Amino acid sequence: MSKNVLVTGGAGYIGSHTVLQLLLGGYRAVVVDNLDNSSDVAIERVEELAAELGGNLSFHQVDLRDRSALEKIFAQTKFDAVIHFAGLKAVGESVHQPLLYYDNNLIGTIVLLETMAAHGCKNLVFSSSATVYGWPKEVPCTEEFPLAAVNPYGRTKLFIEDICRDLCRSDSEWNIILLRYFNPVGAHPSGYIGEDPRGTPNNLMPFVQQVAIGRQPALKVFGNDYSTKDGTGVRDYIHVVDLADGHIAALRKLSDPNISCEVYNLGTGKGTSVLEMVAAFEKASGQKIPLIKVGRRPGDVEVVYASTKKAEHELNWKAKFGIEEMCRDQWNWASKNPYGYRSPNLNLN
Ligand code: NAD
Ligand code: UFG
Repeated sequence: MSKNVLVTGGAGYIGSHTVLQLLLGGYRAVVVDNLDNSSDVAIERVEELAAELGGNLSFHQVDLRDRSALEKIFAQTKFDAVIHFAGLKAVGESVHQPLLYYDNNLIGTIVLLETMAAHGCKNLVFSSSATVYGWPKEVPCTEEFPLAAVNPYGRTKLFIEDICRDLCRSDSEWNIILLRYFNPVGAHPSGYIGEDPRGTPNNLMPFVQQVAIGRQPALKVFGNDYSTKDGTGVRDYIHVVDLADGHIAALRKLSDPNISCEVYNLGTGKGTSVLEMVAAFEKASGQKIPLIKVGRRPGDVEVVYASTKKAEHELNWKAKFGIEEMCRDQWNWASKNPYGYRSPNLNLN
């Protein structure tokens, strides 16, 4: 019998790609999302992409903090596991509105964990972030590195990681996998689902994509005096479909009864500079990206990339795509959906 997975935040960027991989992998998925930073069009498109398996998806527009609504969803279905993506994620916004972040991310998670426990579902995969490594002393970052948070968003990730570790210590029935994502980019190769940020994008590739389609005049390159190959910041970009597959690998690992609380990096292990990423995108799209060199963005880290050994050995998962495919698929999504899910209707074929 196929397994039932509850996916919080499943209408969002990483969530929608993961839900598609779940359906294609034979799982049944129930999505809970308040659509604060997403669109129900993403859910419709996932359903279409999954073809005959699309019937195994259901969606509830519910806020995680709405305990009684969540309770009803758990009462209807016995879940084998939960993948918890739902949360706010804009670093700058978290600095200006910390209570919004603590309320949404922490209270949402606590209500979810309490409801799971009440219904005897104690298997969880949680979206953590490489942000918990702060400014790492060296690279690649291994899962054992000391943890630090430098902004309220990062603190919500650290707090939730700690809550999960405490929970597993208190009750051996809990099995939790914390996935620390590096920099997810790209889109599904169909160009049918992708990242659709509200307002001006904060992250590099959504911004580059908007420059390419003429929604922004130029990319501001934050800092050119870092001690890196070309002076710009270096990150570990990972194709969102590889990242989605990492969640399927984590779900498989959850069936091992002795895992308690485990943490895995999901990255490629390769560092790419801002200028290298822009060059790869220009090549993939044939579009020129005008650049304006400006000062460093406050709080930015110089170089971050993952050690991927633990995930490779224990999850049997490894990223398959390189930056060429990431940029190709990012451009395919952007050119077909210049205004994201608000673009005119797109036919799947
Ligand atoms: P996203 O904003 O596209 O998706 C998050 C989804 O959660 C959205 O659809 C939003 O509407 C929903 N949501 C937020 N608060 C909710 C609540 N209280 N109740 C119900 N739904 C709620 O973001 P994403 O990029 O897909 O990120 C998913 C997760 O991965 C987040 O937890 C994020 O912090 C984490 N993460 C993202 C990145 C990244 O660069 N994208 C990196 C590391 C970690
Ligand atoms: N950058 C620019 N111009 C821009 C945007 C970004 O030059 O307009 C540069 C940044 O300075 C950095 C690189 O591009 O060197 C990547 O920046 P992103 O904002 O895309 O990604 P970050 O690594 O800074 O942060 C992201 C998420 C965080 C998360 C972190 C680790 O935004 O939430 O990855 O997972 F914590």
